[in-house]
Amino acid sequence: MKITFYGHASLGIEVGGKHIIVDPYISANPNAAHIDIDTLKADYILLTHAHGDHILDVEAIAKRTNAVIVSNAEIAGYYGAKGFQSHPMNHGGSWNFDFGKLKYVNAIHSSSFPDGSYGGNPGGFVIEGEHKNIYIAGDTALTMDMKLIPMRTKLDLAILPIGDNFTMDVEDAIIASDFLDCDKILGYHYDTFGYIEIDHEESIRKFFNKGKDLMLLEIGSSIEL
Ligand code: NI
Ligand code: MN
Repeated sequence: MKITFYGHASLGIEVGGKHIIVDPYISANPNAAHIDIDTLKADYILLTHAHGDHILDVEAIAKRTNAVIVSNAEIAGYYGAKGFQSHPMNHGGSWNFDFGKLKYVNAIHSSSFPDGSYGGNPGGFVIEGEHKNIYIAGDTALTMDMKLIPMRTKLDLAILPIGDNFTMDVEDAIIASDFLDCDKILGYHYDTFGYIEIDHEESIRKFFNKGKDLMLLEIGSSIEL
């Protein structure tokens, strides 16, 4: 499994021979100006919630690639009504896709579209594929529900928001990693806006002091699991 950071909460995942894009907000992110969305491969687009900083480039990518948009029922329905391929899910449900098993799990946040349309309730994803399991938290507060995830899935990586203000901060993300029983963390949802700027070295050190590995990737770079 290969995971590429495209800035903010945007990810590319290669698993099972398929290409997945998560929460694409790239074309308006000045820090991601070197990423060309017209070159990104996508068989699926996973959306955690409907906020503009997670869906900006969905239609451009889906129109070009014919990717299947996977999200909660309301977001899938929104794009389905516009003629895009979609797969609706809801909290607690899993589906065996051709890349692996995907579960939609709880997040504590909100989820309206920029145009005011109802975006259902926000979530995160657990992906089980190629004998590696990852959790993508989406925008969320620290929540006790995170304790449910390792009861079903032994995680190899947790992708957690750490920017504070709209989501968890670093301290809460450390507690989240305890709840998730996972000491390997990829941080995201930081630095994009003034509200969520973080001190990288201090954040890495705080995780390190708890025996945990926080990775902060350069935009466009990847890790292999
Ligand atoms: Ni949000
Ligand atoms: Mn966000």
